[in-house]
Amino acid sequence: MVPHQSVFKDESKLDINYIPQKLPHRETQQRLLMEFFNFILSCPEKMAQRVILTGDVGTGKTALAQHFGANITSGANKRGLKFRYVHVNCREYRGSLSPILHRAVTVFRPNYPARGYGSEEILGTLMQVLDEENAHMILTLDEFDSLIEKEGSDAVYKLTRLQEMRQGKPQRLSFIFIMRDLSAIEKLDESAKSTLQRSIIRLERYGKPQLIDILNERVSIAFEYGAVPEDVVDLIAELAFSETGNARFGIELLWRAGKYADAEEAGCVEPERVRMAVSSIIPGLRRSELSSFGLHEKLFLLAVARYFKENEQAYVSLSEVEKAYAVTCEEFDETPNGHTQIWNYAQYLSKLGVLKTEVATAETRGRTTRISLPSIPAGELEKELTASLKSEKGRV
Ligand SMILES: Nc1ncnc2c1ncn2[C@@H]1O[C@H](COP(=O)(O)OP(=O)(O)O)[C@@H](O)[C@H]1O
Ligand SMILES: [Mg+2]
Repeated sequence: MVPHQSVFKDESKLDINYIPQKLPHRETQQRLLMEFFNFILSCPEKMAQRVILTGDVGTGKTALAQHFGANITSGANKRGLKFRYVHVNCREYRGSLSPILHRAVTVFRPNYPARGYGSEEILGTLMQVLDEENAHMILTLDEFDSLIEKEGSDAVYKLTRLQEMRQGKPQRLSFIFIMRDLSAIEKLDESAKSTLQRSIIRLERYGKPQLIDILNERVSIAFEYGAVPEDVVDLIAELAFSETGNARFGIELLWRAGKYADAEEAGCVEPERVRMAVSSIIPGLRRSELSSFGLHEKLFLLAVARYFKENEQAYVSLSEVEKAYAVTCEEFDETPNGHTQIWNYAQYLSKLGVLKTEVATAETRGRTTRISLPSIPAGELEKELTASLKSEKGRV
């Protein structure tokens, strides 16, 4: 028997962690980052920089930062500078500052003990190590929202006031903060806020033509020549565009459609495989999307899911959900956030199309926000969220 030929040439190029060599349509932002950090290559001791990268899910924030990190590292190496780019996803550390800083220290001191030190001490150690090594570092804090959520203004102070505490000494540490939306900054007190909001680079959602370019690029390195017809790329781009211009969704669809093609030994990714791929992930909530939600967004959504699982109504008022959310918070040992935050969660999830919110005017009670869950089965959503929350909370 002749083994059937896969449509893939190199599936790993569609992996969620793969960093592409080229980032079409992010050239301007790449150049901007380079401008902001140019001093690292010419006079690293004289300056430190803090830049915020912001944009919706799948707009290429992580890819852009890592791509830039690789570029500036090779530039620094060529000049014989001791430089490290360190990229940490704060959510993986549940937003705790100490283990995040620990990661940065271990770049130079792999045996530095993981426990027993507070964040201030570890930060002190990090600076000392950078001095000893005569080195410079850009520390990228990805999903920085989760650090703000967990540690608040204090942590931001510690990071941004660093250099002021080291008057007269060479500068060593710069930051890139990545956050989906800037509303988390609103939670901080005024001075922490003002130290953060200097250089902001916004990544707008991709349009369909841009998504086509991004997908074509990926098709050429991941698939056999001719395995993905042009109109299939077009179809996937259309779908990703209507999903908030999310490139990650497009790439996930591409991969799944390829898997379906291989499973049927089709030798080519036809539109029907794309439709199969879509129906396998919609309306069920995609895991990749779920994992990008903040802890409290998940707790909030879990409250909604449970409400609709247990009640026959199609709508629930925000205040009712607020009560249910307090219960889920208690269950997962979290302090519930206030009304404004809850309203933000509802708005965000509704923007993503997970929920629907509308303002209803009831004669007796004035204006109330009501929520519905139009397209995701509540039971399934509950299952996914519970699993995700358990693994998030269970991780040390
Ligand atoms: N301009 C681009 N060119 C190529 N691939 C891209 C581009 N933008 C995003 N991607 C890819 O889309 C996916 C999502 O991007 P990512 O950086 O993870 O988004 P974010 O961090 O903003 O949620 C990744 O697989 C990434 O490699
Ligand atoms: Mg990201």
